[in-house]
Amino acid sequence: MGIRDFLLSGETEGGRRVYRKMLNWLDSPSRLKYDNPEVLLKGSGIQPGQTVLEIGCGSGFFSIPASQVLGSEGKLYSTDINPMAVEETQRKVDELNIKNVLVKKDDAMSSSFGESMFDLILLYGVVPAPVISMKKLSKETYRLLKPGGVLAIWTKVPLWTPRDAIRNAPFEELDKLNGVFRLRKKY
Ligand SMILES: C[S@@+](CC[C@H](N)C(=O)[O-])C[C@H]1O[C@@H](n2cnc3c(N)ncnc32)[C@H](O)[C@@H]1O
Repeated sequence: MGIRDFLLSGETEGGRRVYRKMLNWLDSPSRLKYDNPEVLLKGSGIQPGQTVLEIGCGSGFFSIPASQVLGSEGKLYSTDINPMAVEETQRKVDELNIKNVLVKKDDAMSSSFGESMFDLILLYGVVPAPVISMKKLSKETYRLLKPGGVLAIWTKVPLWTPRDAIRNAPFEELDKLNGVFRLRKKY
C-alpha cells in the first residue's frame, strides 16, 4: 500500500490514527491564532448566492464560515477523499443545522461532478502534497468551473506559486489577496 492509500483511504488503523491527529490539529483552537478562516475566505472573492466546490474540506474549518457567506441562495459542495473528513464535516453541518452544504466523498483528481458547475473552487491547505498531481488537479478544476469561474488556492508553503496550474490548463492569474491566489478560467 502506498502513502496515498495509507493516509487517505481510511482503510487501515494506522492510517486512521495519523489522519485523526491531523484532523485534531486542523481543528485546534490555537490554529485560529494563525489562520483566520473569514479573512482567508475573503481572499477567494466568495459571494453570497454562488455555487462553490471546496476540495479537501478536512475538519470543515473553512466549510462552516463559507456556508455562512453563501447564504440561503448559495450552495457549498464540501468534498474530501478521506471518509473521516467527510464524517467530521457532516457532523458539524448536522449539529449546526446548516442547509446549504452538501458533504461528499470525492477524489478531486477524478471528480464525480459535472462540467462547468461551479462559480468558485476553494483549494485551501491541500497543495502542494506528494499525493496530489497539480497537472491532473488543474485540468479537473478547469473542467468543473463555469467560464470565468475562479480557482482560489491558499497554501502555507512559502514561495509556492500556481505556475503548474497555469501551465496545464487555460487559467489566468488574477491577483493574490489575503495570501490567496486567484486563477480565472479563461474560456
Ligand atoms: C491538510 S488538509 C486541509 C484541510 C482543510 N482544507 C483545512 O485547511 O483545514 C488536506 C485535505 O485534503 C484532502 N485530500 C488530499 N488529496 C485529496 C484528493 N485527491 N481529493 C480530495 N481531497 C483530498 C485530505 O484528505 C485532507 O483532508
